Amino acid sequence: MTDVSDDRFIIADIKAREILDSRGNPTVEVDVITKGGVQGRASVPSGASRGVHEAVEIRDGDYRFKGKGVLRAVKNVIEIIKPALIGIDVRNQYEIDMKLVELDGTPNKSKLGANAILAVSLAIAKAAAMASSIPLYKYLAPNREKYLMPIPFQNVINGGKHAGNELAIQEFMIVPIGANTFKEALRYCAEVYYTLRDLLLRKYGKNAINVGDEGGFAPPLRFSQDALDLLVKSIEQSGYIPGKDLALAIDAAASEFFNEKSGTYTIDDRTLTPCDLRDYYVELVKTYPIISIEDPFQQEDFEGFASLTKKIGDKVQIVGDDLFTTNPKRLEMGVRMGACNALLLKVNQIGTLSEALITAKIAMKNDYAVMVSHRSGETEDTFIADLAVALCTGQIKAGAPARGERTAKYNQLLRIEEELGSRAIYPKGRLNHWKEFFTDLPILKGL
Ligand code: PGA
Ligand code: ZN
Repeated sequence: MTDVSDDRFIIADIKAREILDSRGNPTVEVDVITKGGVQGRASVPSGASRGVHEAVEIRDGDYRFKGKGVLRAVKNVIEIIKPALIGIDVRNQYEIDMKLVELDGTPNKSKLGANAILAVSLAIAKAAAMASSIPLYKYLAPNREKYLMPIPFQNVINGGKHAGNELAIQEFMIVPIGANTFKEALRYCAEVYYTLRDLLLRKYGKNAINVGDEGGFAPPLRFSQDALDLLVKSIEQSGYIPGKDLALAIDAAASEFFNEKSGTYTIDDRTLTPCDLRDYYVELVKTYPIISIEDPFQQEDFEGFASLTKKIGDKVQIVGDDLFTTNPKRLEMGVRMGACNALLLKVNQIGTLSEALITAKIAMKNDYAVMVSHRSGETEDTFIADLAVALCTGQIKAGAPARGERTAKYNQLLRIEEELGSRAIYPKGRLNHWKEFFTDLPILKGL
């Protein structure tokens, strides 16, 4: 523990409350207040296509908010977590996170709730950064000379559980790999988003420009190829070159269209075996400038992930989200089996900042790329923007360039890039740029 006692850093109070997320569902917000009067505030997101191995968010299950209230989680912060943390120095992130894990005592944080625990964990880091008078990304990674900005993977067509259409694939993303700066990357995406809106309106009418949970359009399409064709066309009609200025990426979230009984997948009005589905992706990659595929198979099929990685992993990033659930043990199993070459990093899947950082480190040490990610149910909290810069992952996904809870993250990245000036590097054309930035984070105390 940090022993230089300094009131600026000593926890004096913790407040917790129930707020609403971007889907209108309750979630937890926490304020950590130090003796010096500094306040760190954080709130937690919530997924819809959740992995079964994720840490558990607890909900009240009573008459309020159709059972979705989080007053029990709020109570756990006030009655159990707060008394254990008063008087501790907020710079002890790792020790505090381990204390939270210990207080909970379950393998999946189901006693106190990952929603209660994570809100505290993130608010601690924010309070420490504020009390140190440095931005969060610098507090998390203080010793860097240069910082790698993330390429924003922007989900502009929503399907699966995030939309009221028939698209099986959950996310169709544009990836501004040819931009020179994050600021330019964001503009590329916004311009393509406007063009896509025009195309959808002209071709399918007004209903097609309704949006899904992550701010992308949710047009009444059935076939993945139609969505991908629209993206290629939108890129071209915006004056950009597909595959050079902007590439494509998908998150299949395949657990959501997997039929457990038959072991098959329903996609594009067809029933595919895992082998057929693998060939389906191989064909997609041949036809479209796709550089990244997330969750191509259901969440227990390590072999399926490994076989696709073996087949196209040298050219395409294969990302594990529901497969790994930001869990070090599941990631280590994936590494042993050669499943994926990238990790999707969602702090609320594991429940504390330190554990998420450890999982990211395991990934990078094993040559896996890391994409920092939002959830489909988000808040205005911008923690993940700073996290992506601190870790120098070179990749983030935070939805479309629209809707406040999504743009909050991208706008924070604009501010960070501006502040860093020539110390900010945009990984133009390269998903593996992060390798030059990989170092130990002091916050993990050598772990
Ligand atoms: P979720 O979706 O937040 O609904 O889980 C995001 C994703 O699958 O990446
Ligand atoms: Zn996913």
